[in-house]
Amino acid sequence: MIGIYPEDCNERWRFLRSTSHMGLFSAKALESCSRIRLEKAKEMLHFLGSKEGEVVNIADILFATTANTLTNAMLSQDIVESWNNIGEVKRKSRKMLGIVILSLADLYPAIGGLDFWIKQKAVEANQIYRAVWGDIVSKRRGGRQDSNQDILDVLIESSFDDYQIYNFLSELFPSSEAVSSVVEWAMIELTRNQEASSKLRDEIMTKDIEGTALSEKRLTKLPYLQACIKETLRLHPPDPILVPRCALQTCQIMNYRIPNNSLMIVNAYALGRDEKTWEDAQNFKPERFLGRNFDVKGPHYELLPFGGGRRMCPGQHWALTEIQLLLGSLVYAFDWLVPPGTDPESLDMSEKLIAITLKREKPLLLIPKMKNDVSQDWAEALGTKGF
Ligand code: HEM
Repeated sequence: MIGIYPEDCNERWRFLRSTSHMGLFSAKALESCSRIRLEKAKEMLHFLGSKEGEVVNIADILFATTANTLTNAMLSQDIVESWNNIGEVKRKSRKMLGIVILSLADLYPAIGGLDFWIKQKAVEANQIYRAVWGDIVSKRRGGRQDSNQDILDVLIESSFDDYQIYNFLSELFPSSEAVSSVVEWAMIELTRNQEASSKLRDEIMTKDIEGTALSEKRLTKLPYLQACIKETLRLHPPDPILVPRCALQTCQIMNYRIPNNSLMIVNAYALGRDEKTWEDAQNFKPERFLGRNFDVKGPHYELLPFGGGRRMCPGQHWALTEIQLLLGSLVYAFDWLVPPGTDPESLDMSEKLIAITLKREKPLLLIPKMKNDVSQDWAEALGTKGF
C-alpha cells in the first residue's frame, strides 16, 4: 500500500497508528485540540457573518474549516490560507485521495495488472505530495520557534524521511473532506426537512441544557443533534465501501461458507439503506435514533459508517466531535435560506463518487441570515452584538 497504513497490520502500521493516536485520536489529544476546533469554527462563522444575505458555497467553506483544523493539529498551520484559495487546496486533496486507489491494486488483480498506469500515478503522487508538503516539512527540519510539539515534530524525531512524512500527511489529510461532507449532507437534509430543522434549532437554542452554547460537552448531550448526525451517516456514509477484507481461514458466516483467502467487500451504504433493517429507509428521520442506545462507532453491524474491527477508522471520535461542533454552530448562529428560485424540499440529491468518497454532485449553496439571540462569545466571533 502506498499510504501510511499498509495492508498488513505489521510493525510499521502499528507505529503509524500509535503516532496518529497520540497526536490526534487519543482522549488527551482530542481534548487538547478542542481550542483549535473552536478557533476554526469561529473563523468560519465570522466569514459567513461577513457574507450575510449572499449566496455562499457552504461545501467549500466547510472543507476549508475541516482542512485547517486538521492541519493545525498535525502541523500547527493552516493549509487553506485564504477563503479565496479553497478550490486549489481541494483539487490537491482530491488528487491525494485519488492516489489511495493505487493501494487497491494490491487487492484487485485487475488493477494490479496495469503496471504502467500505476508507475505513472506513483510519479504523479510524489509530485503532488512534494508540492503540498515539501516547504512545510523542510522548514520544520530547520527547527521551530516555539516549544510546542505536533505530529510533524514526532515524525521528524522518529527519523522518517521526507517521502514517508508526505505519505503520512497525504493519507490523513483527505479525511477532512469526509468530515465536511457529512456536515454538508446534514445541512441538505435539514433544508429539505423543515420539521427536523426547527426541532434541531429549538434544541440548540434552549438554555435548559447545561453548559455554554456550543461547548463540546453540551453538544454531546443534545439528543436531537446527535440523532441528526447518526441519520446523516446512515444515509450518506462518506466512505460507502469499507476497506476490503481477506479471510485468513475458511469460515462460516450465517449460511455462507467463506473459503480461505477470499476477498470480501462490505457495502456500508447498502447496510444503512436496507429496508429489512430500517423502516422508511430512504427518508431522513432522526427520530428513529431517539431513546435508543445506538452507537455508530462499531458495535451495531446494521450501520458501520466508520467500519469495524482492527482497521476501523481511528479518526471516528475526531470526526464526530468536529461534525457536532460545525453543524451545531451553523444552526446556532444563522437561519438558512435557499437561493431564489430553489425549492428547499426538492433539492437535488445526486451523488458522485470521488475516488473512494461519496459526495453530493453539486456543492450546496445557501444564504446565511444571522440570528440575533446568540450568546456574547459567539456574537463576538460573528462580529455582532450578542444577548
Ligand atoms: C465522518 C468522517 C469519517 C468517516 C465516515 C470515516 C470512515 C472511515 C472508514 C469506513 C474507514 C475504513 C474502516 C474499515 O474498513 O473498517 C476509515 C479508515 C481510516 N480513517 Fe476514517 N473516516 C472519517 C474521518 C476520518 C478522519 C478525520 C481521519 C483522520 C484525521 C480518518 C483517518 C482514517 C485512517 C487513517 C483510516 C485507515 C485505518 C487503517 O487502515 O488501519 N478518518 N475511515
